[in-house]
Amino acid sequence: MFKTPPVRTIDRFSPPASPVILSPLHMKDRSMSLSEHKINEYDLSIDDIDSPECEMFPSQFSAGFEATSGSSVVDFDNFILSGLPSSKRFNAEELLSQIHECLLVQYSYQLNRNVIGEGSFANVHTCKVVGAGELTATFTVKIPKSKRMVKQIYKELLNYKVISDYLFDSGLNPIESPFMNCYGLAFTTNFINYNKRDVLPCLISSCLDSDLRLLSYSMLKNRESLTDLAIGSTLWWSLAKDLIDGLTIMKECKLVHSDFKSSNILYDSNTQSFKICDLTSAISEEDLINTTFENFEVSLQYCAPEMLLQQSSPNYSTDLYAVGLILLSAAIGSEPYHEILKSRNNSLIFLNECIKKNKVLDVLGVEQHNILQANEKEHKLIRSILVDRLGLEDLRALF
Ligand SMILES: Nc1ncnc2c1ncn2[C@@H]1O[C@H](COP(=O)(O)OP(=O)(O)OP(=O)(O)O)[C@@H](O)[C@H]1O
Ligand SMILES: [Mg+2]
Repeated sequence: MFKTPPVRTIDRFSPPASPVILSPLHMKDRSMSLSEHKINEYDLSIDDIDSPECEMFPSQFSAGFEATSGSSVVDFDNFILSGLPSSKRFNAEELLSQIHECLLVQYSYQLNRNVIGEGSFANVHTCKVVGAGELTATFTVKIPKSKRMVKQIYKELLNYKVISDYLFDSGLNPIESPFMNCYGLAFTTNFINYNKRDVLPCLISSCLDSDLRLLSYSMLKNRESLTDLAIGSTLWWSLAKDLIDGLTIMKECKLVHSDFKSSNILYDSNTQSFKICDLTSAISEEDLINTTFENFEVSLQYCAPEMLLQQSSPNYSTDLYAVGLILLSAAIGSEPYHEILKSRNNSLIFLNECIKKNKVLDVLGVEQHNILQANEKEHKLIRSILVDRLGLEDLRALF
């Protein structure tokens, strides 16, 4: 199945007024990497980040929890089990214990009604943690759009957990890693816009400034010269390094992301670095066996040719191809195949043909083409990924 490719950039993201503040929360030492975090303190008053329209929602799902599902009352573990995805890597008991390690039970959250990001499965809001000491911090909360989509949230949480455990075991600092920092799991009830009877699991993460799609689009307008890279050379190389590092870590974790695209890469202006997010589609090597192309919700514009030609499932090589497309779009300031998508006639059929024939660099507009011609080193790296299809190891040697 395909997600509809975005044709135009919509100005739907309003960055939070505040800088990112790392979590003041404390959790068990191995869980979701909270306790080792250095807390950056910013001079920030609550008024700066509070929207006038906020609602509280409870996260206390500890012992004695009862979730109401319709009229019946079920216990907490059964409630979670009913929403968990199946996995070849972990049995149900192991999955449940992983989920328990990720629970953020001590806190309540003050939720901002405005949506700062909308995907196909979930809405993302900002929120503030209540009862976490003196510090005020802004986080994001990702809430599934309906009960049918809770599986994706649990799946995403468990994928972040695999990566977080890997970083912990390797002695790597999660704050410096190229992944969005996901702190754990809370639950919403009774929140406006959602069905009030539903208890929905949601992810609490650090709040970043923008996604790469919007960043490239806005920076393109402010370039000094028409042949400059959309996000400028320094940021572009930082992006390339972060993405290649991220792919390397995912491979170590035996996870295929399956949905690399510009809107799934976030920008952290404090560290001028990029963070991979949206692990809803990520899948383990074990679970990839016996899956087919139809099992995935892929973004057509970011598909590798072989996925359409052979109907093959995503893998490390198609992830790398999508990363090449992300680097291309950060260079030219528009999404891959933008020229085709903005034309009216049969554009999706033509788009399919272009993807199958790997024509992404041949169908650029004149301005985009000129940017690549003027930036030889970046052009070379993009071609190495998209045309020569070099592997990760060979690419690392180019840095
Ligand atoms: N931590 C964050 N900080 C700031 N913005 C975020 C954060 N997480 C997500 N967003 C914004 O919300 C959007 C949607 O989030 P996300 O991609 O996780 O949802 P999704 O429903 O899984 O999306 P998709 O349609 O790609 O499957 C992102 O593209 C981004 O613009
Ligand atoms: Mg997304």
